[in-house]
Amino acid sequence: MSAPESALLGACRDRRARVLQHLRAQGGGVAIVPTAPEAMRNRDSDYPYRHDSYFYYLTGFTEPEAVLVLVAGAAGEGDRSILFCRPKHEEREIWDGFRFGPEGARATFGFDEAHSVEDIDKLLPPLLANRAQLAYPLAATTDIDVNVRRWLDAVRMQGRAGVSSPSVAVDVRTLLDEMRLFKDAGELSTMRRAAEISAQAHVRAMRTSRAGLREFHLEAELLYEFRRHGAQSVAYNSIVAAGPNACVLHYRAGPAELRDGDLCLIDAGCELDGYASDITRTFPVSGRFTPAQRELYDLVLAAQEAAIAETRAGVPYNVPHDAAVKVLAQGMLDTGLLDRNKEGTLDDVLASGSYRRFYMHRTGHWLGMDVHDVGEYRVPGPLPAGQEGERPWRPLEPGMVLTIEPGIYVRPAEDVPERYWHIGIRIEDDAVVTSGECELITRGVPVKADEIEALMRGNGGSSR
Ligand code: GLY
Ligand code: MN
Ligand code: MN
Repeated sequence: MSAPESALLGACRDRRARVLQHLRAQGGGVAIVPTAPEAMRNRDSDYPYRHDSYFYYLTGFTEPEAVLVLVAGAAGEGDRSILFCRPKHEEREIWDGFRFGPEGARATFGFDEAHSVEDIDKLLPPLLANRAQLAYPLAATTDIDVNVRRWLDAVRMQGRAGVSSPSVAVDVRTLLDEMRLFKDAGELSTMRRAAEISAQAHVRAMRTSRAGLREFHLEAELLYEFRRHGAQSVAYNSIVAAGPNACVLHYRAGPAELRDGDLCLIDAGCELDGYASDITRTFPVSGRFTPAQRELYDLVLAAQEAAIAETRAGVPYNVPHDAAVKVLAQGMLDTGLLDRNKEGTLDDVLASGSYRRFYMHRTGHWLGMDVHDVGEYRVPGPLPAGQEGERPWRPLEPGMVLTIEPGIYVRPAEDVPERYWHIGIRIEDDAVVTSGECELITRGVPVKADEIEALMRGNGGSSR
């Protein structure tokens, strides 16, 4: 593994300082943030390793078996930022690759101290002694809880010697989620690049599409494009859904054949340097929308445009979703997907929620290191005293990144016009909230039906 860029290391140091400052404001304490465990796939073959997002956010360190410990000392005592990591090991490095080792990690990543993770049971309990508060990913995994229990037990053993153990445990993720929700310039630049790569991959898949190929052929094209631009991974399992499969929301690319006259829905994004992108495009397998497909496509696009127009600072989080739903519900009445005689007016449809038969998910989610990224969707914290009910949706603010992804999914039914049966369409772009119009970072792949048809016109010829 190469050393990360100094801008990332500087950002990580600043984030650790914010956590320490927060701990001190709470009376001092210790934060423990472990990275993710390695996971076995079958027998002794493991899944490709992916660090924990919180841990990476604070360290930039991607090796497994590492734990960050932040100690906010009492007044007069300095803060300490301590990494526990795998020791250097000549033989293991021959088999598995380079390890920084504690000394290399400390020097490269800028921790105050670093130790072998093999010594953590000996070195960590004294750090917890006489601290008021412990912050860690509370009840996140059994492993973490068991380890914390063992470290606390070791401190409690010192009780008769007058040593106290933390009496307050808080979830460190509450603070980190709020920090992660607002992306800094470095994060935004990585996310723009991830979005560009993913957009290029969608272009490639559209150009490759033709009847007779199978879904996994297009998945292979996506992966090729991700990897050849340096993305480490997919951000989530790619959906390549031909024809009726598009109506299965979490479909995976499989062996289904792409058929002339059908649509193909691709929801795929790469992960680059720890950050996700998330794009969906729906296009005709052979490059021409049928009239019914085009009708619904333009409806979903109009819904997306309505949501995009409401994606700006100051607007509550639910407003883009509500704007998309309104356009979709009106379209369902206009096309006859919803029967006016049974469902009534637009207001009736919105009130009854009958549009959910064809649009059953929300219009977006936060995006960041995790594809469904962390962060509260409602105003954080408890409701003011005396108030009851749900907290209000939080207003969008510059630096937040979210997806805008309306769709329509029509399963066959007697009361649904047959020309729409099996059509599944979603259009998804990634947006950065700014003080003005949102910045769409995924428009390297066309979205208008005419532009998609123009891009695909060469398919079957030399342009492939
Ligand atoms: N690809 C996951 C999502 O769109 O939410
Ligand atoms: Mn999404
Ligand atoms: Mn998606």
